[in-house]
Amino acid sequence: MTRKYDFLVIGGGIAGISFALKAAKHGTVALLCKTTLSESNTSYAQGGIASVMYAPDSFEKHIEDTLISGDGHCNLATVEKVIHEAPTQIDELLNWGVNFDKNEEGLFDLHREGGHSEHRILHHKDNTGYEIQESLIRQVKAHTEIEVFEHFFAIELLTQHHLGQVVTRQTPNIECYGAYALNQRSNHIHTFLSKITLLATGGIGGVYCTTTNPEIATGDGIAMVHRARGIVNDMEFVQFHPTALYHPGEKPTFLITEAIRGYGAVLRTLDGKQFMQKYDERGSLAPRDIVARAIDNEMKLRGCDFVYLDVTKMDAEETKQHFPNIYKKCLELGIDITKDYIPVTPTQHYLCGGIWVDLNGQSSINRLYAAGECSCTGLHGANRLASNSLIEAIVFADAAVKDAIKKIHSLKYNDKIPDWNDEGTSLPEEMVLITQSFKEVEQIMSAYVGIVRSNLRLHRALNRLEILYRETEHLFDKSVVSREICELRNVISVAYLIIKQALLRKESRGLHYTVDYPAPMRNEN
Ligand code: FAD
Ligand code: SIN
Repeated sequence: MTRKYDFLVIGGGIAGISFALKAAKHGTVALLCKTTLSESNTSYAQGGIASVMYAPDSFEKHIEDTLISGDGHCNLATVEKVIHEAPTQIDELLNWGVNFDKNEEGLFDLHREGGHSEHRILHHKDNTGYEIQESLIRQVKAHTEIEVFEHFFAIELLTQHHLGQVVTRQTPNIECYGAYALNQRSNHIHTFLSKITLLATGGIGGVYCTTTNPEIATGDGIAMVHRARGIVNDMEFVQFHPTALYHPGEKPTFLITEAIRGYGAVLRTLDGKQFMQKYDERGSLAPRDIVARAIDNEMKLRGCDFVYLDVTKMDAEETKQHFPNIYKKCLELGIDITKDYIPVTPTQHYLCGGIWVDLNGQSSINRLYAAGECSCTGLHGANRLASNSLIEAIVFADAAVKDAIKKIHSLKYNDKIPDWNDEGTSLPEEMVLITQSFKEVEQIMSAYVGIVRSNLRLHRALNRLEILYRETEHLFDKSVVSREICELRNVISVAYLIIKQALLRKESRGLHYTVDYPAPMRNEN
């Protein structure tokens, strides 16, 4: 079945929905998500959204903090754009009904997180993402121009390749005409033709054994662009959040927001000693890469699986009021955070790299934009500053709409795209071939491509992945398409890109730390 829309939006988190709401003023919009609109990384965001609001904070300070965190790898023009445009996009969120906490004077109650020199994190208690996502969903439901397709899994981008042309990475002017998507309820594959397509497919947590990301995060958009011969970069910069709750077996791993350290919590070893000062003069509030590596080092030195986060010195009532969900979650596990230390461990959390885009959110493929975590704008450089992700997503979704509406009138649907061809395919004999291979990818990545890397480990990972790649491509070619086999292909592509790009970086920078080219850990003794 073929459907036609001016704008095809793949992904229903903050990037996809905010784009859709603005694009709907200029044409028809299809908004696809692979489960329900409520299930996105956006919904899980805790800490908040960074924006300069009041003096003594300033754009210059936020820019400086972002650049320091990015460890010399940010694109200055992107950093300036996002930080200058942040307050306007916060106003958009307020207009869409997002409710950020205020203090007794009626001003926004701003939190501070690692790497920020000022309080500038707008938040809604400790579940900011849920507040944003639900407000955006309410807006989408009020818009008749936006057709929402839940449980639709985008499989492949449509390009000249589907017209029988050979498309290579050297082909100039690759164009995107939409996407094939699987309706998971009917098992039919639909052809979505569009004039403009936005990828807003979120993160890649599914590539690792432990992650804070929900299970939708399998890097689908990134893998689709790679297969369509578009540019994907900075994939070696995988962010591990320093303080996920240590609770083996739980997936996704529950996050203990960095804002709790901004509020006064400190890290301790299992024998109760503070250790962060040994690694960085900013202590527990150093940027994430430094804190995660310090914890990883302490755990390796002591042979333990976690360290402690201590918030017991703070006022108990205030702690409960600021962090009600963390309090409740820990209490369910028998940890009263106002009295007990919280066991925490670093966990995969975010990807700084992804689909390369310019300042307009335009990818290297014509008619294709990307925004949010699947994109690489240059804001985060080698290490994202806390709470800079949600703001990047909404600023770049805005830039993409503004650019797309200038072009849309000159674009036509490509009616020559054929429907999906599944001739010669059958149901896989054994689903275990898919589920087991998925686990193997996670294990390879967690064992060999984690916080501390080496050439030896990266080559081991690549060799093992190559076997899985060959087996999976063979299985894909003869199988009826399912979400499971597509996700497996995608996590293999994403893992491959991370390893390959990590091997190419002959230095330690930001989140990419390798023992073969060690940069000294700053201020380590
Ligand atoms: P998402 O919100 O992840 O949405 C992705 C969408 O794409 C989903 O709708 C999904 O169904 C859809 N999709 C994916 N693949 C397909 C496919 N093949 N076909 C169809 N649809 C598809 N950032 C901050 O700035 N501040 C924070 O406080 C913060 N806290 C966080 C806490 C947690 C626990 C986590 C996991 C992340 C946090 N982040 C935070 C990061 C931030 O939440 C994400 O980077 C951001 O929400 C990503 O938004 P997005 O719109 O790019 O993607
Ligand atoms: C957190 O609340 O610590 C997460 C913030 C982020 O990932 O930006």
